[in-house]
Amino acid sequence: MSDNTVWWAAEDFWRKTAIWVTTGMLLVLMVLTFDSVKQITAGSERVPAYSVINNRIYYKFDQDRGYQVPVIGDQAPLFGAMLTEEQAEALVNKGKMTVQARNCMNCHTLLGNGAYYAPDLTKAWLDPSWGAEVVREQLMIQFLMDPETNARTFGSGRKMPDLEITEEEARGIVAFLKWMSSIDTNGFPHGFKPIAQEGD
Ligand code: HEC
Repeated sequence: MSDNTVWWAAEDFWRKTAIWVTTGMLLVLMVLTFDSVKQITAGSERVPAYSVINNRIYYKFDQDRGYQVPVIGDQAPLFGAMLTEEQAEALVNKGKMTVQARNCMNCHTLLGNGAYYAPDLTKAWLDPSWGAEVVREQLMIQFLMDPETNARTFGSGRKMPDLEITEEEARGIVAFLKWMSSIDTNGFPHGFKPIAQEGD
């Protein structure tokens, strides 16, 4: 390199720039990672603690935000039993593990991840097609344990295969889906119409 190279064309300048930019971006990435982890942890502002499955969850239109947001209502324990935080976590976890092990995402979408062959499961707990709220838990279990006989297909002609889910696993899945429906997803999935709400 000759001495009369202008500073911005010097190799040394670009080497230092690369090091500083990489270091700077790494720090930004770390800060954002910690911030994201905080915001997606159960028990934070938008992601309720697992014991939320002890309460009624419904949707309400938020005028300011322009879409529906989940609301945590009165006590409405899942399967009629109030759970402690630990018990609720264990049950939701059972469901989450089953969903992962059976690869439900091959056909379904959960929180934006997965496929679009079958209905989005993010708000499946609030899907009006379960009919009345009181019978929903039981219908979901029946469906999960025998999706072919209980197929609804929604006019698509597609049926969910029997994945030989046990009753215990089905209960976990229902808990997982109930908890997931309470997450504030900024209106995702867009245009979702929830189960009939009080006062409708
Ligand atoms: C091979 C594809 C496929 C896989 C894998 C699959 N499903 Fe489905 N699922 C479907 C189809 C198709 C439907 C819609 C038809 C119906 O409801 O009868 C459906 C419907 C559902 C519904 C009803 C959704 C609603 O809002 O009413 C739930 C809940 C559900 N599946 C849960 C699961 C879970 C949990 C798993 C994993 C354990 C799973 N599915 C794996 C294809 C699949």
